[in-house]
Amino acid sequence: MEQAGILGLGCYLPSRKMTNKDLEKLVDTSDEWIMTRTGIKERRIAPKESAASDLGVEAAKLAIKDARLKPEDIDLIIVATVTGDMAFPSTSCIIQDKIGAINAAAFDINAACSGFVFGITIAKQFVDSGLYKNILVIGAEKMTSLVDWTDRSTCVLFGDGSGACIVGKSKDRQIASYFIGCDGSGSNLLRLPAGGSRIPATEDTVKNKLHFLKMEGNEVFKLAVKVMADAANKAITKAGLLCSDINLLIPHQANIRILLAVAKKLGLPEEKIFLNIEKYGNMSSASTAVALAEANKDGRIKKGDNVCLVAFGSGLTYGAVVIKW
Ligand code: UT7
Repeated sequence: MEQAGILGLGCYLPSRKMTNKDLEKLVDTSDEWIMTRTGIKERRIAPKESAASDLGVEAAKLAIKDARLKPEDIDLIIVATVTGDMAFPSTSCIIQDKIGAINAAAFDINAACSGFVFGITIAKQFVDSGLYKNILVIGAEKMTSLVDWTDRSTCVLFGDGSGACIVGKSKDRQIASYFIGCDGSGSNLLRLPAGGSRIPATEDTVKNKLHFLKMEGNEVFKLAVKVMADAANKAITKAGLLCSDINLLIPHQANIRILLAVAKKLGLPEEKIFLNIEKYGNMSSASTAVALAEANKDGRIKKGDNVCLVAFGSGLTYGAVVIKW
């Protein structure tokens, strides 16, 4: 029976690499500290003139081509981002224009690093209800535009990139289940303090660096392990599966120690976890989007596999989807 599934995938990474050695010249850190504490070796940096929409357009074009569709075939564009080109209009509208998806409605969602998982979940509802046929879901982030390059506790973690998928009715690669959740009591743990209606931009907010992201790393770490394992477990159970039935877990690439702890909680061996954090760091909503496209391209997913995408992020948001490939 046909139901919502993945019709096409694509991802885009800016070519400029920033290594841990490069960061050693900016802040008091070391390649050894970053590698052992996070698993990150390098990250990509988008050009100064590029915004999230420019990154998203590249991934979107590849996903549309992969699905053998034309931009006019897209009915809806959902962009997950916390680094949109501007507060409004939505980045999805800018992408709609740039790719010529003239028949598509478009909106952004902000579920931070969980955004791509939330986006797939939303797309499934529209497809299964019959309202839309082809939905373009994009995770696009220029995280380096929010990074304080003098704060060693955060600047080593993030990178830029984008990934996209087309969700439509399909006989394979079906979205078997989903679970999304939130714990708003953790909303202070990872945030961009100024520039919104609470603290609009002033000379003081700029001087006090309130337009850069702030994070309580230790607190986020502890919660991340718990909520990612819980979300994955819930989605896997909803799909009528056991953790041992999962062939590949594709987690949000936040910190290798978090990911290995999640795998351990789920009883999954390391070889069943897809990791690309070493190359790209944390790209927020783009992390799971890029990882899914890369895992497929690298032949890590075979027909019949059960794939679980799981993420957590600022909010705190969390979620997982199970895809039967
Ligand atoms: O998708 C968004 C979600 N965010 C995350 O997933 C982040 C979750 N948290 C983490 O990944 C980790 O907490 C961090 C990587 C951010 C930090 O690792 P940690 O093992 O929790 O280190 P820590 O914050 O406890 O700091 C240990 C020490 C401190 O020094 P003292 O106080 O022990 O002297 C820090 O000042 O490491 C120091 N430190 C650094 N040293 C070298 C912090 N950042 C750095 C650095 N280089 N870049």
